[in-house]
Amino acid sequence: MIQKVSPRKIIMVISLITVLIFNTALAFIVVDNYLTHWRLIIIFSIIIFLVIYGVSSYLINKFFIDIINPIYKIIRTVKVLPLTIVDEIEDAEFSKNLEQEVQNWAKEKTKQINQLRLMEKYRKEFIGDVSHELKTPIFTIQGYISTLIEGGIDDPNINKKYLLRTEKSIDRIISIVEDLLTISKLETNELVLNKEKFDLTILINEIVEMQTDYAAKKKITLNIKLNNSFIVYADRKLIYQVILNLIINSINYGRDNGSTELSVYDMDQIVMVDISDNGIGIAKQDIPRLFERFYRVDKSRSKENGGTGLGLSICKHIVEAHQQTISVSSQEGLGSSFSITLEKA
Ligand SMILES: Nc1ncnc2c1ncn2[C@@H]1O[C@H](COP(=O)(O)OP(=O)(O)OP(=O)(O)O)[C@@H](O)[C@H]1O
Ligand SMILES: [Mg+2]
Repeated sequence: MIQKVSPRKIIMVISLITVLIFNTALAFIVVDNYLTHWRLIIIFSIIIFLVIYGVSSYLINKFFIDIINPIYKIIRTVKVLPLTIVDEIEDAEFSKNLEQEVQNWAKEKTKQINQLRLMEKYRKEFIGDVSHELKTPIFTIQGYISTLIEGGIDDPNINKKYLLRTEKSIDRIISIVEDLLTISKLETNELVLNKEKFDLTILINEIVEMQTDYAAKKKITLNIKLNNSFIVYADRKLIYQVILNLIINSINYGRDNGSTELSVYDMDQIVMVDISDNGIGIAKQDIPRLFERFYRVDKSRSKENGGTGLGLSICKHIVEAHQQTISVSSQEGLGSSFSITLEKA
């Protein structure tokens, strides 16, 4: 409605109606043979029209300035309406713009509020997850220390064993805190990428060599399908961490006598590293949440390997900090395939 009727039109109609009422009143009530005084009628009508038009314009103007302008000012925050609002009133655009502005503002605010609510939900969940993860090793330490204080320290059967277990729990706390610090740095963009040119093939061979023993212990074979070198431009240390995480996952969530295949594909501007296993796989409904902090599909197996569910979240952050992508395809019971892209040097 407000878009169709402009304030200027309303004032004109009001002024014309007033002129009409005034003339009718004069004709019927006050002056005989009124129409014979046509010159006077015209002059009176013009004067009345101008006075009513002027007064109405002033009042509406004041209404806009006093009431709407501050609202408009708040909504636009920076864009302030000019005080000489008459020009705006003459142009229906003002009311049109105002309605549009308010609608846009409301949409924007709703979006922001929803985002804040979601962030608040994540924050609460995050605090809960951190406390939960730290609780187990802290309580374990507390238990061992209490036993040692209550006399266990003098018992050669348990003193060293309990101290070693305490050390293991402390290592776990350190690893969780370190992972959290890495995530925090990545999320606040504090982590500066030290990009350099390096050979991806060498890096992959290095990691695989380091993990061969661990893989053998878990009865997994690591197969590298790489013939030539691939020079990429990225932060070597961080990419090392990503590929290491993915290889360790493929071992931890693999099956006896299973294997992990490592391949690199040349894709014009980028290269794609693919780490595929024939392990336990991931159910379809878990895939969308896989990269969330602390998310674990197989909680017992993850815990058995000392996992916290932070690995993939860190991988995602690192890859995205490089403006590249990480993706997963998996089938429960058959295996998983994780790929990352990297910029070619
Ligand atoms: N290759 C894989 N095959 C099957 N499941 C996997 C694979 N990789 C990851 N997952 C599932 O995704 C979850 C999240 O992996 P992520 O690496 O983030 O955490 P994690 O391995 O449990 O702990 P950590 O923080 O030590 O890496 C795992 O707990 C596991 O359930
Ligand atoms: Mg992991």
